[in-house]
Amino acid sequence: MKHIVDLAKNRGFVFQGSEIYGGLANTWDYGPLGSLLKENLKNLWIREFVQRRPDMVLLDAAILMNPNVWVASGHVGGFSDPLIDDKNTKERFRADKLMEALFMEREEKGTSREQQQKDYASKYGINNLVPESWTPEQQFAFMIGEKVENPNTKKPGDWTEIRKFNLMFKTSQGVTEDSSAMVYLRPETAQGIFVDFPNIVRTCRRRVPFGVAQVGKAFRNEITPGNFIFRTREFEQMEIEFFCEPWTQLEWHEKWKVDCKKFLMDTVGIKESNLRFREHEKDELSHYSDGTFDIEYDFPSIGFSELQGIASRTDFDLKAHMTESKQDMSYFDPVNNTKFVPYVIEPSIGLTRLFLATLCDAYDTVKEEDGNDRIVLRLKPEVAPVKIAVLPLVKKLNEKAEEVFQMLSKHFMTWYDETGSIGKRYARFDEIGTPWCVTIDFDNTLEKDMVTIRHRDTMEQETVAIEALVKYFQTALNS
Ligand code: GAP
Repeated sequence: MKHIVDLAKNRGFVFQGSEIYGGLANTWDYGPLGSLLKENLKNLWIREFVQRRPDMVLLDAAILMNPNVWVASGHVGGFSDPLIDDKNTKERFRADKLMEALFMEREEKGTSREQQQKDYASKYGINNLVPESWTPEQQFAFMIGEKVENPNTKKPGDWTEIRKFNLMFKTSQGVTEDSSAMVYLRPETAQGIFVDFPNIVRTCRRRVPFGVAQVGKAFRNEITPGNFIFRTREFEQMEIEFFCEPWTQLEWHEKWKVDCKKFLMDTVGIKESNLRFREHEKDELSHYSDGTFDIEYDFPSIGFSELQGIASRTDFDLKAHMTESKQDMSYFDPVNNTKFVPYVIEPSIGLTRLFLATLCDAYDTVKEEDGNDRIVLRLKPEVAPVKIAVLPLVKKLNEKAEEVFQMLSKHFMTWYDETGSIGKRYARFDEIGTPWCVTIDFDNTLEKDMVTIRHRDTMEQETVAIEALVKYFQTALNS
């Protein structure tokens, strides 16, 4: 992970937020390359799930919503993590994460999870190893009884009781700051889709089954953010709410699992060996779900962790908004003459977390003749922030090179670079994942109106006529 963070910071993918003021903990800015990479991932997702499907539409709902939305969705009452402090060090932790780390440690030392569950069952009155589903009293008893360590001091903590900490950020709207002006920053984009469901049905001439996709910022006051951009308090989500007839949800759930994995592998280019499905245990399911699968990615230094959730959300949300808003959220099917509240399958992925997985997956090194390692970011061309680098062999060739740059940059994200040896320039572009370098030289370009294309992954070079270049790259990007 350290290598990824260094590359991201040094090459303009991700910078620390507010760096000149000493930063603001766990905030990150997406630099010139990072913002392009993030935009590409987002556009590919929209292309695959909205443009290429007749049963999907796009939405861009407001971040600030009527606070009653979050009462109905269950976030005001239940969107909280168990918070615990070590009185010795005044540090704050998520108790469930400390306990999960202990289960793993004991498993690695030879006590299976089944055995652990048996050992703890009578002591703490629990019947699973999902601390999220235990009461705060059970969690506290476990922390004390098992002498759970503070991960920083490696000694049992002097633990406080557990408090439920709501993760929603509050702010106030307008000139007054009293409670009537209080609003939340949305903790998920999903609710905007549910609330707009009647508007979409009314205006978009789509019949159930159909889905609504949305990309946007979400905010959670995470107790323990970290691991670079893996868990942040401000992040972006790409969410789909797919509305289907009641009792068809299992079938749709299976289809969405296949489509989501296909997107990650075929469109983004993530290796299958780094992905796996994990089904949520019954006690772990969110209050709205009757079944959830995560797609996990094997993040370096973290291990297999959630990249995407694919939840079957039943009719929980539409019904909850129907009760709270007193508006009819049901759907009338004009062909079958039936009225029902649709069920929902929700594939939800963090755009910024996908960004991290994409960087990790593409990161590779090549041994140089001098024994040093050189970084090559093997991004798929569609994902790569810069598609083409135009490189005059020497500065004198800049006029012709700029002409080629003008021609290509009308169609593709193209960068121009004339400084440094050609070998160093190739290496710089390999490091940021640029699939093609176009070299302008005396013999080919000035004499024959041709350029040399150098391929990042094979390092092979081929000569192509300047007039054929646009078509060449269009074909390569669409293949
Ligand atoms: N609407 C359902 C929902 O929000 P979630 O599992 O809480 O479900 C969905 O979030 C996805 O959003 C996760 O799989 C993850 O990729 C991303 N995500 C959640 N919290 C995040 C955080 N604090 N930082 C970065 N990404 C996050």
